Amino acid sequence: MASGSQFVCQECGHSALAWTGRCPGCGEWNTLVEARGPSTRAGGGRARSASGGAGLAPKPVPLREVQAPKTERLLTRIAELDRVLGGGVVPGSVVLLGGSPGIGKSTLTGMALGNLAAGGAKVLYVSGEESAAQVRLRAERLGDASLSVPVLAETSVEAVRAALEAERPAVCVIDSVQTLHSEGMTGAPGSVGQVREAAGAITEVGKRIGTAVILVGHVTKDGSVAGPRVLEHLVDCVLLFEGERERSFRTIRALKNRFGATSEVGVFEMRSGGLVEVADPSARFVGEASDAPGSCVLCAMEGTRPLLVEVQALVAPTEIVPPRRVATGIDRNRLAMVLAVLARHGGPSLASADVFVNVAGGVRVDEPGADLAVALALVSAHRGRALADAEGRPLACFGEVGLTGELRFVSHPERRVAEALKFGLGPVVGPEAGEAVQGLAAHRTVRSALRATTAAPRTAARAA
Ligand code: TYD
Ligand code: MG
Repeated sequence: MASGSQFVCQECGHSALAWTGRCPGCGEWNTLVEARGPSTRAGGGRARSASGGAGLAPKPVPLREVQAPKTERLLTRIAELDRVLGGGVVPGSVVLLGGSPGIGKSTLTGMALGNLAAGGAKVLYVSGEESAAQVRLRAERLGDASLSVPVLAETSVEAVRAALEAERPAVCVIDSVQTLHSEGMTGAPGSVGQVREAAGAITEVGKRIGTAVILVGHVTKDGSVAGPRVLEHLVDCVLLFEGERERSFRTIRALKNRFGATSEVGVFEMRSGGLVEVADPSARFVGEASDAPGSCVLCAMEGTRPLLVEVQALVAPTEIVPPRRVATGIDRNRLAMVLAVLARHGGPSLASADVFVNVAGGVRVDEPGADLAVALALVSAHRGRALADAEGRPLACFGEVGLTGELRFVSHPERRVAEALKFGLGPVVGPEAGEAVQGLAAHRTVRSALRATTAAPRTAARAA
């Protein structure tokens, strides 16, 4: 199918030969848009045809005999970014960096290119959103290295391809992929057809000439990389840059990484001179944590690294039906589940109270291990008493809460406990660990964990 019309869903990228009111792929209404051109082209020369397509049967090669030259990674010398990438940028790879507007994508990529250029690598910054003058103004804030980055203010795919062929940089940033448009395609810039076509075309050149391409993309509210959902399987690595714009902390995590682990998280802080790495985020968050009622320190795991964060809760009586449940930094459904478990298994019923839960510092904790901290913070807020163990020592906690009120095992209990002890928090309340962990006060149920803290009714605290 060399030419002819296609109808592409702007939500999921499903393509159909005829227009329908409802997308057969994702079920959304009125999302199919006509797109002309070679939109069915596959992922841009990922695996070259060995036979040249001449009808001869290609011969499979045993993996042992496949040549895989070891390539040196390109270090951005932003340690947190290099770590999330799995040890630097892989030459010729394609990275999609997603994040909401204003989060600092241009700042991060500008700094990375500046460092790469200072290290002797050839780089190129393609800006489709801002003029070269605007890019310069930002670079002035980031320091001398960033000012040496060559910039191209361009939105045409064909022009960018030509520039890549001519310049052959080691690393190229496209900021952003949604602003690119291809002359051969109909549809507005940013539409699924255009984005997929543009990304495919740039990827193809990048792979061919060995340029690592970093595609910057905006994300929608629900966190998926807007439109370019379809890009997620085209690229080698998907990084998500998150945080609240008003807050200074930002986290970067890999959603997909063909060259490293996806569990790593980097933490940054936005300052006047650009993004600064937060090498010891636990110290920052614990230092800011209060010991007021409604505050609980959670031993979370961010990838392979333990991270202490403060979970805060506020419980306020209300007449509103249904009462409000506001969750920031944790999943709203898990909050609802913890509230229900508390009501059934030894905690208070908060059915006539507004409930707010917040992970301080603008961090997002996406693991079930946060459940117990949410429960303890809620109970502490409800009773108006600060969390401490029976002897009045400040404590930290972790653990998944099950529907029957049991505390469930979560990964790396020993690392979580060690991190809390490092900061003088302890004992650590958590689920049983399988083997003995020094400093862990293990409990089987939420009920028993509640009893062991001063947030519980006085009688229980006295009994302990
Ligand atoms: P930006 O990188 O332009 O975000 P994005 O490309 O993701 O849209 O920058 C986001 C914000 O960061 C912007 O509001 C200004 C602020 N900022 C600083 O606070 N310090 C700095 O040094 C720079 C360059 C930006
Ligand atoms: Mg930007």
